[in-house]
Amino acid sequence: MARTLHFSIFRHNPYDPQSVPRMQSYTLDETPRATLFTTLNRIREEQDPSLQFDFVCRAAICGSCAMLVNGRPLLACKTRTEELPETITMHPLPFFRLVGDLSVDTGSWFGEMEQRVESWVHQQHSFDPNGLEERMSNDKALEIYELERCIECGCCLAACGVALMRPDFLGAAGMLRVARYLADPRDHRSEAQVLEVLAPDSAVSGCVGFLACDDFCPKNLPLEEQWAFARRWLLAHGALSDNRPTPQRIG
Ligand code: FES
Repeated sequence: MARTLHFSIFRHNPYDPQSVPRMQSYTLDETPRATLFTTLNRIREEQDPSLQFDFVCRAAICGSCAMLVNGRPLLACKTRTEELPETITMHPLPFFRLVGDLSVDTGSWFGEMEQRVESWVHQQHSFDPNGLEERMSNDKALEIYELERCIECGCCLAACGVALMRPDFLGAAGMLRVARYLADPRDHRSEAQVLEVLAPDSAVSGCVGFLACDDFCPKNLPLEEQWAFARRWLLAHGALSDNRPTPQRIG
C-alpha cells in the first residue's frame, strides 16, 4: 500500500529582507521507486512553485542536488523515498552559501579550492603542441581516475565537524585533489609547493579523524585511505609530528 509522506522543508530567501527562516510542511502520496528528486519536482509542480532546489543531471554525476535529508548529506537524485521513513526533513547543505531554500552555492567554494591547491598539472617545460603525447601505464591511469571521480557535491564538507567550525578547512575534497596531482607522473610541482598546501593546520593536521567525509561520500571515494596517505606524506617530509597523546579509554 502506498505510504503518505510528510515533508518538513527548510524555506528562506536570504536576498529578501522580509524572509524569515522556517520549516514548511508538505504531504503527498509516495510514488513507487520515486527518487527524492522526482518527489521534490512533484511538490513544486503540484503544491508550491516557489520551492528552490538544484539539479542538472539526475544521474549522480553533476553533484548539484546534494542536501541534508533527516540530518544526513546525500544526493536527492540517487535516493529513493522508499529508503526513508514516512517523515522526511530536508535542509540545505551547511558550510556553503545559501542561495534559497534547498539551493546552495558550492561552485564558489570549489573554485577557490582549485586556486588554493593549484589544481592543474605543473610542468617545468613549456607545452609543445607538436610533441608526442605523454604515455602512462593503464594502472597509473586507473589510479588517477579513481582520484578524479569527485563530483564536487559538497557532501564531505557538509558532514565534516571541522569544516562546520572553520570555513578555511581544506576538507576531504581539497585533500583528494592534491593527492590526484601527487599520483600524476606528469606533475612536477615541488615538495615545498605541496607542503604549503597540506601542512597548515587548516589542511591535513586539522582533520580530527571522525571520517564522516568517507561515510557520506555518495561516490564511495577512498577518502579515508587518502587522508592516511596525506598524513604519511607529511610525516615523511618532516611536516607532521607523530607524538600525539595516546587516546585514553573513557570510563
Ligand atoms: S542532479 Fe546531478 S547529481 Fe543529482
